[in-house]
Amino acid sequence: MSSTNPHPTAAPAAFRYSATSRRLHWLMAALVVLAYVLITSRSWFEKGSDPRLLVVQGHFWVGIAVFALVLPRLLARFASPTPAIMPALNPLTRLASQVTHIALYAFLLLQPLMGMLVVFLERGGIPLGGLMLPSPFELNPHLAHRIEDLHITVGSAFYYVIGLHIAAVLWHHFLRRDNVLKRML
Ligand code: HEM
Ligand code: HEM
Repeated sequence: MSSTNPHPTAAPAAFRYSATSRRLHWLMAALVVLAYVLITSRSWFEKGSDPRLLVVQGHFWVGIAVFALVLPRLLARFASPTPAIMPALNPLTRLASQVTHIALYAFLLLQPLMGMLVVFLERGGIPLGGLMLPSPFELNPHLAHRIEDLHITVGSAFYYVIGLHIAAVLWHHFLRRDNVLKRML
């Protein structure tokens, strides 16, 4: 079989992110979208009703799943070489994409963390049906409200950052016609 590797003794170049990185990227993207859909849909249901309780608790647990996957995702990311973008990006575009990716990773870590803090400080534990994840902190409704405001503001701001991320991917794929999207498929 012919090889495209110009240096037969070197490790073959990676053309895509590792399977773990790719799976985690798409799984977490779906979970983030679901977290948004669940919390936004709460206004369709009456306050105190069972369906409203379900979508709000669904938001908590989907968000906690995002939090649980961040560290494995970062480990997988750095365990394998990053595939090269072809044709290569100019330094400014590379910087813009790095800044956006760092912002997205920070969001994946801090947004659920803030949400968890809100519920711990406000309710003394995170409910799931009959179960309760107990809070390691004292109740502090005042601090809970301040963090909740921040959680909601950051959540709103990231509609735009995630939108920008998706727009950039579409630009790479359809206009610049490079391999950015293919590396993640
Ligand atoms: C990727 C993870 C998450 C995202 C993207 C996210 C996003 C959001 C957004 C956009 C809102 C504001 C919704 C609105 O006012 O229309 C919100 C509210 C809220 N989130 Fe999250 N969140 C995440 C994780 C969590 C987690 C893990 C918890 C708690 C365990 C949590 C608890 C809350 C609470 C208590 C509110 C206020 C709900 C209310 O006003 O009834 N969030 N979240
Ligand atoms: C339909 C939606 C999405 C598409 C089409 C998409 C596509 C992509 C592609 C093609 C890359 C590789 C970019 C590159 O290496 O230069 C990427 C990277 C990334 N995406 Fe997404 N994405 C989507 C949604 C999301 C969401 C919702 C998040 C998180 C909130 C996210 C977080 C990230 C992060 C952190 C990276 C950087 C990966 C790295 O470490 O290099 N993506 N995405």
